[in-house]
Amino acid sequence: MAVLGRGLVPAGEPVLRGDDRGVLHGDGLFETLHLRDGRPWLREAHLTRLRAGAAAIDMRLPPDAALVELMDAVCADWPAHTEGALRLICTRGPEGGGPPTVYATLGEVPPAARLARRDGVTVATLPLGVAARSRPQLEWLPSGVKSTSYALSTAARRWAQRTGVDDVLWVSTDGYVLEAPTANVVWLSGGTLRTVPAAQTGILPGVTAAHLLERAAELNLTAAERLPTVADLHEAEGVWLTSSLRGVAEITALNGTPRPSSPLTTRLQTLLNFPR
Ligand SMILES: Cc1ncc(COP(=O)(O)O)c(C=O)c1O
Repeated sequence: MAVLGRGLVPAGEPVLRGDDRGVLHGDGLFETLHLRDGRPWLREAHLTRLRAGAAAIDMRLPPDAALVELMDAVCADWPAHTEGALRLICTRGPEGGGPPTVYATLGEVPPAARLARRDGVTVATLPLGVAARSRPQLEWLPSGVKSTSYALSTAARRWAQRTGVDDVLWVSTDGYVLEAPTANVVWLSGGTLRTVPAAQTGILPGVTAAHLLERAAELNLTAAERLPTVADLHEAEGVWLTSSLRGVAEITALNGTPRPSSPLTTRLQTLLNFPR
């Protein structure tokens, strides 16, 4: 780990106070980055999202140069040929108005993420209990923020485990698929690679999905944002979950219905340079 103001510290060293608001209230932000060739992939896009999130929740962040220095410090001795999971965590700090707690951790990419990339994932839909466009209309509610408060995501993941699927897709009360607890959904239909519009829905704007769609033309595909129904995904030529560590993981079954494997999966992973 590398801690702002302290430099490198051993992984087991305490870095937070017991009254840190990140711990007490989940009042913090984080980014997970894929470390490849010794460098954090899409670092600027992650820093931009982090800064947008901090502005949305009125949290002070150190300058980008300090955050980059922290990430460089923790990555310095990582073997260049091994992919890594780099996390940058910024909490609001101790109660009573202390400065933000800022640190970076680096570890191996979890085997489950690499397996999902290679073998794909089974998913089931799960109601989220909100209408697709309702959250951005709430003036008080910051949306699209990668908050450390992941209670909803872990609950959904536990439900997936109990149900016997790898992951879930949250569905709005008006019948649209929004996102997975830690990934965006991307699908191919009629030569267009599509994802869910973050601004209209308040889902997390995924760095991986945005980058993938920006590069769709390299595979002779067009790119577009759209709200899909579950039926739209059943009819799609390919459906994937995208996130920084899993990269592009094909959905192999949706609500118990197996999906034919898409020849595009390998090409998408190759385009983004993800090892299989
Ligand atoms: C809710 C949610 N949506 C989407 C994503 C994927 O975002 P990214 O591609 O930036 O990792 C994540 C990542 O953890 C997430 O937590």
